Amino acid sequence: MFETVIKRDRDLGTPARTATRLVALTIDGQPVQVPEGTSVMRAAAEAGINIPKLCATDSLEPFGSCRLCLVQIEGRRGYPASCTTPAEDGMVVTTENAKLHDLRRGVMELYISDHPLDCLTCPANGDCELQDMAGVVGLRNVRYGFSGANHLHDQKDESNPYFSYDPSKCIVCNRCVRACEETQGTFALTISGKGFDSRVSPGQDQPFMESECVSCGACVQACPTATLQEKTVIMMGQAEHSVITTCAYCGVGCGFKAEMKGQELVRMVPWKDGQANRGHSCVKGRFAWGYSTHKERVLKPMIRQRITDPWQEVSWDEAINHAASEFRRIQAAHGRDAVGGITSSRCTNEETWLVQKLVRAAFNTNNVDTCARVCHSPTGYGLKQTLGESAGTQTFDSVMHADVVIVMGANPSSGHPVFASRLKRRLRQGARLIVIDPRRIELVSSPHIKADFHLQVRPGTNTALLTSLAHVIVTEGLVDQAFVTERCETKAYEQWAAFAALPENSPEAMQEITGVPAAAVRGAARLYAGGGNGAIYYGLGVTEHSQGSTTVMAIANLAMATGNIGREGVGVNPLRGQNNVQGSCDMGSFPHELPGYRHIGDDLTRRQFEADWGVTLQPEPGLRIPNMFEAALAGSFKGLYCQGEDIVQSDPNTQHVAAALSAMECIVVQDLFLNETAKYAHVFLPGSSFLEKDGTFTNAERRISRVRKVMEPKNGLADWEVTMALSNALGYPMNYAHPSEIMDEIARLTPTFHGVSYAKLERMGSLQWPCNEDAPDGTPIMHIDAFVRGKGRFMITRYVPTDERSTRRYPLLLTTGRILSQYNVGAQTRRTPNVMWHGEDVLEIHPQDAEDRGVAEGDWVGIQSRAGETVLRATLTDRVPPGVVYTTFHFPESGANVVTTDSSDWATNCPEYKVTAVQVTRVSQPSEWQQRWSREADLQQRLLAERTRETAGALAGK
Ligand code: SF4
Ligand code: SF4
Ligand code: SF4
Ligand code: FES
Repeated sequence: MFETVIKRDRDLGTPARTATRLVALTIDGQPVQVPEGTSVMRAAAEAGINIPKLCATDSLEPFGSCRLCLVQIEGRRGYPASCTTPAEDGMVVTTENAKLHDLRRGVMELYISDHPLDCLTCPANGDCELQDMAGVVGLRNVRYGFSGANHLHDQKDESNPYFSYDPSKCIVCNRCVRACEETQGTFALTISGKGFDSRVSPGQDQPFMESECVSCGACVQACPTATLQEKTVIMMGQAEHSVITTCAYCGVGCGFKAEMKGQELVRMVPWKDGQANRGHSCVKGRFAWGYSTHKERVLKPMIRQRITDPWQEVSWDEAINHAASEFRRIQAAHGRDAVGGITSSRCTNEETWLVQKLVRAAFNTNNVDTCARVCHSPTGYGLKQTLGESAGTQTFDSVMHADVVIVMGANPSSGHPVFASRLKRRLRQGARLIVIDPRRIELVSSPHIKADFHLQVRPGTNTALLTSLAHVIVTEGLVDQAFVTERCETKAYEQWAAFAALPENSPEAMQEITGVPAAAVRGAARLYAGGGNGAIYYGLGVTEHSQGSTTVMAIANLAMATGNIGREGVGVNPLRGQNNVQGSCDMGSFPHELPGYRHIGDDLTRRQFEADWGVTLQPEPGLRIPNMFEAALAGSFKGLYCQGEDIVQSDPNTQHVAAALSAMECIVVQDLFLNETAKYAHVFLPGSSFLEKDGTFTNAERRISRVRKVMEPKNGLADWEVTMALSNALGYPMNYAHPSEIMDEIARLTPTFHGVSYAKLERMGSLQWPCNEDAPDGTPIMHIDAFVRGKGRFMITRYVPTDERSTRRYPLLLTTGRILSQYNVGAQTRRTPNVMWHGEDVLEIHPQDAEDRGVAEGDWVGIQSRAGETVLRATLTDRVPPGVVYTTFHFPESGANVVTTDSSDWATNCPEYKVTAVQVTRVSQPSEWQQRWSREADLQQRLLAERTRETAGALAGK
């Protein structure tokens, strides 16, 4: 089912309708019943009758421009277009007769008379709906000839790196324009001109790259001809088979068809049946996959004695045995807990499971942590405390039932673009929007969307703001008392309500702290509590604070108080950052928890794992990532196995991290590229890309989706095989023939995964956990009748100011975020043409703050904090308010995390990336750190370039 020869997905012409009332009609003598509102075209298609079409496609509302889909309807004059005619009770429709045939052929003749006749050399040959329709209507000649006015010599637009626009092939069907509006929500395309002169035009007749286009590919997907065509298809020709897999970038978890020619990827096509993305994509998943074959990928294992030595290529066996003997040597000399491991949210569930198992069973310590530490660990903690489960409550589809949406500390248009498109669609249908963010994100005001409230909260004061929203809900009688009485702990609620009602929590009292006018807070609270289904979506702008966990609990409090939990259209929805951050947490990557969020100190749980794994596990929690660094600097932590995470670039206070890594004796990095962390490594184990392995990812909806191998690993081994080999070399046997066997073990030992297997995933497409005896097909919406913890628990959320406050020395607050075209540390996206959109990190600064400092657009500015200094180019914008500056962190040389401090969430140690007190000054040269970084980067590149290619005995005798 999931590996096929290339077949175009069946297209029923117009979207499905969901009305419960059915209408009955007859089409070509066949009785047909469809939901009211269904088009005649779709009704016919559902009965197996395909009416010719060009401008209609079932992902878009019908437009009725091509006139190819004409039908005859008894009792009606003329020949209506079947795509725009709704089916009605008693209709008698004829789709084929001589007259209809003539009419359609006439339409096709007109199209073809203004179309290049280069079918044989056209890149869409064999995948072109115009070509198909010419065949379907039996076109044999073109009476009008080809000599009249035509567009055959119109200029191509090749500005986009991923697709070309050839107007000579355009039939002006408007599908691209509608895709950009309806599916993507960007409104970058129009049809300019009239009649014969009408042409598709990006922006104001601009090239694609200069327009508003965000390169999502929806128009390319919708285009029935080769007008909008992927450049890889132009270069390589049509693919010959396809495999369904899951995007490896963000937590939306889009399903894709990887279209292949042998071992070569031709294009990634968003999977129409993908339950997270419903056939849509963004520029990263759709186009930015070239990194997997980038020349900088390291494909051979390497080792070295010191980090100033050149690398030496060795065999897999030698690298693995060397790493294992180093870990054992360190443990013998410095104790069992002198080593640890870091799992990756980029890797599969199965790979993450193996790394934490290796640490707990083979190292026999609980020193395992994951990059979720630095993003969504407060989500895990806060939601567990209040609702009883460390995960979001909804499906992405659920947003289509929301009436009021709060987006807090998240910028979905950049971070979770396919979800943003769905949300925008709902907002265009009339749902209301409250944005809580220091920065004016795109959603605040974008085509056909305007937020009702933008609460421009001062960085670091989220808890104060949410408590003031709670104050309004409690004191103005907006609490859903029936829900609270039935579903929540009474005493905790009463204590919370009394706390929220305190005068010091009123919006009027809090506005000094938050910077948000009281009237706006009151308005937003009334809208959320009284506007119907209220859904909250939040991101790292909530979690990455000293009170990240408190803010997550404040969000859960609001949802419980207003009864917005446990059905479609509501809920608490963390927008998880990386593709498998949910999964890496589920798989037991935290030092205090075994898989399924069960405490390591719980004897019963530990015994189950001990019986299955055949080892005695340590009962005490191990070190978190920041504690590993502290211990390394103190001399008690000496060895680290780091899979698929670049802690030097992504963790705060870079200089501190670098010092800690420099103090260790053996760092083993497993990655695709020689990343910043690998510069401190002694063993480099080449990683495999998501295209080269089997496994599963779990997205922000708790949706487990298959990742399927579409090509052989370029380094020879998939990541799970490497971990397995390392464990075996350490003397703890691991023998899995396929990742499905690892999933069987996960299911055996994790109650929320008891019902998950590869066979069921194959059958169902994907599964949302909990998936077990109680929910064999998974759980799309959580907490329907009761909370996972029984009764919901309100938590007191007292505001405690962060230590990172603006002072005379550091008067501005720096906050950070992501941009659409780049991804996190940028290791992948920087190695694709996506750099054309964003080739460097810049500092956004308000014009007023810039003027105070004599800074002009494009100037170099130094950003100093108590942790360090870096230099970036400034861009002046009122997207940020005065007093706040903003940057992204996609390029290592930017050193955004040289400036961020080790201030962190009180409960989980999640770093406070979103608030750093800084000063900004105009400068003329890179910072000292950047100059040092540049020298060290050159040295490491040289050590890589000078690597010896011995295959045995590389370190012998040293
Ligand atoms: S690629 Fe996406 S954003 Fe760009 S024009 Fe096409 S549909 Fe619109
Ligand atoms: S570019 Fe393609 S989708 Fe757009 S109007 Fe032309 S033929 Fe239709
Ligand atoms: S939205 Fe996320 S999962 Fe979907 S294609 Fe883009 S990066 Fe991939
Ligand atoms: S398909 Fe109906 S008018 Fe084009």
